[in-house]
Amino acid sequence: MEDRSEVIQVRCDKLPAPPRTRLQVWFIRVCSSIVVWTCLFQIVVVGELWHPHLLYKITNRISQITQLPLRVEVAVQSPPSLPPARNYTSNGFLRVSCNGGLNQMRAAICDMVTVARFLNLTLVVPELDKASFWADPSNFEDIFDVKHFIESLRDEVRIVRRLPKKFHRKYGIKPLEMPPISWSNEKYYMQQILPLFSKHKVLHFNKTDARMANNGLPLDLQKLRCRVNFQALKFTSQIETLGYKLIRMLQEKGPFVALHLRYEMDMLAFSGCTHGCSKEESEELKQMRYAYPWWRDKEIDSELKRSQGLCPLTPEETILVLKALGFDKDTQIYIAAGEIYGGEGRLAALRSAFPRIVKKEKLLAPEELQQFQNHSSQMAALDFMVSVASNTFIPTYDGNMAKLVEGHRRYLGFKKTILLDRKRLVELLDIHHNGTLPWKEFADSVQSAHERRMGQPTRRKVIMDKPKEEDYFYANPQECLCEETSCDDLLSPGNSSGKG
Ligand SMILES: *[C@@H]1O[C@H](CO)[C@@H](O)[C@H](O)[C@H]1NC(C)=O
Ligand SMILES: *[C@@H]1O[C@H](CO)[C@@H](O)[C@H](O)[C@H]1NC(C)=O
Ligand SMILES: *[C@@H]1O[C@H](CO)[C@@H](O)[C@H](O)[C@H]1NC(C)=O
Ligand SMILES: *[C@@H]1O[C@H](CO)[C@@H](O)[C@H](O)[C@H]1NC(C)=O
Ligand SMILES: *[C@@H]1O[C@H](CO)[C@@H](O)[C@H](O)[C@H]1NC(C)=O
Ligand SMILES: *[C@@H]1O[C@H](CO)[C@@H](O)[C@H](O)[C@H]1NC(C)=O
Repeated sequence: MEDRSEVIQVRCDKLPAPPRTRLQVWFIRVCSSIVVWTCLFQIVVVGELWHPHLLYKITNRISQITQLPLRVEVAVQSPPSLPPARNYTSNGFLRVSCNGGLNQMRAAICDMVTVARFLNLTLVVPELDKASFWADPSNFEDIFDVKHFIESLRDEVRIVRRLPKKFHRKYGIKPLEMPPISWSNEKYYMQQILPLFSKHKVLHFNKTDARMANNGLPLDLQKLRCRVNFQALKFTSQIETLGYKLIRMLQEKGPFVALHLRYEMDMLAFSGCTHGCSKEESEELKQMRYAYPWWRDKEIDSELKRSQGLCPLTPEETILVLKALGFDKDTQIYIAAGEIYGGEGRLAALRSAFPRIVKKEKLLAPEELQQFQNHSSQMAALDFMVSVASNTFIPTYDGNMAKLVEGHRRYLGFKKTILLDRKRLVELLDIHHNGTLPWKEFADSVQSAHERRMGQPTRRKVIMDKPKEEDYFYANPQECLCEETSCDDLLSPGNSSGKG
């Protein structure tokens, strides 16, 4: 059985600390049952579940979770038992340097563990990107619980914190440094990469983003990608403690929406999306774009891009869309993002439409956030936790964070994620703006455009030879969402996503 203990923690906040006596075990069992069932009840009442089939499946999953405390009892008698380490002959060491922001690296870590397992390698704890736009100096162990990562995967693959000294450069060992080919399947790794170890003891992958295909991989590899993502990667206790505190503060005030308002300067500069910006702002964004040599596109037609649905929604557009979707001034909204471009001025309109908007900077005392301040990945980890735990998650752009959180929420029982159809939305917004489409029709059209985009069970879209355009594995890891075949009917096109 897979360990779902993290599932409870994220969904219903932390369980009490490990118990010492039978009475406490019993007490925890009762409490956690209550917590779990209360959560379920709320989910049903709030109407987040629209599919009777799905409800049955989730009830099943939750009743399995309720039995978890039994395992706590076992743990009381002996120290927590780890799976036995897998006994295999290692073909060599794999070093990886992840590139990109937190969530891109997260997916890459899952892929690299899977490659190491498949090729019988020894993985060195991944190195994180310190030179990306975010310039976060954090190491793996500053963000993830490295001990848990190594130990919980030891029945699959050997992971070491550092490359053993005898393989260091100064002893004449030259690792082969290379980026593996993007979107590769297992055959590439077996046929092209494994043979390199006959000459080299150490291989160093110096890029890791999207190096594995979304589709067509053997089921056990897909499941391992999930296992790393959902179980082996846990944030450090400092991040978890503060993340849970944020979640608790929000939950105490009722259900909440996490809005991933990806209207940040880097996004706008990189994408060239300047709709709604002043002339000066457009110029500033353009200068920033030219300042980053590795951002390839320099001259960008913002309006064309916007009409293709390739721009994040502006704060002003977001207000109309949220209202059309039925959110109102009583809705509690957590802004899961860094600094919004244009600052408080830009947020003011959003705030007057939704007075219950909060940010982590407002909820927590400055001292609490200080330790994370210059570590954008650690800040992003807090937003990740809150977004996963929210009642509704709404990303205004489909970047890596949006996709990874979407996948996590599917795993936790298809929690509601509103996947905005930005191409359709800008059409509707524009004809609403010029007076062609009155509010009522606008709102109806926005709603009907999103009926089937709420994070319901669906199959990933597969497009041969166009991996970038197909659905991303980590946004919908369908192989890991259902127990074997029992989920097939849930995923079949005819009866998966209709209105019940
Ligand atoms: C690992 O497997 C090898 C070969 O099958 C065996 O000789 C060795 O004793 C095993 N090691 C352990 C620790 O089980
Ligand atoms: C990995 O090790 C297993 C035995 O543990 C062996 O059956 C398998 O062929 C090995 N695969 C590779 C690629 O070395
Ligand atoms: C990765 O290694 C290759 C081969 O050594 C090199 O050409 C490339 O510039 C490196 N890329 C990065 C991002 O370091
Ligand atoms: C964060 O960095 C800024 C400048 O880069 C510096 O002024 C500030 O003191 C740093 N804050 C902390 C908490 O380290
Ligand atoms: C409003 O915009 C749409 C699409 O851009 C256009 O087809 C329509 O003619 C416009 N209507 C008015 C009244 O300007
Ligand atoms: C869902 O689809 C499967 C196969 O396509 C079918 O057997 C099943 O009856 C359908 N379930 C519902 C509730 O429509």
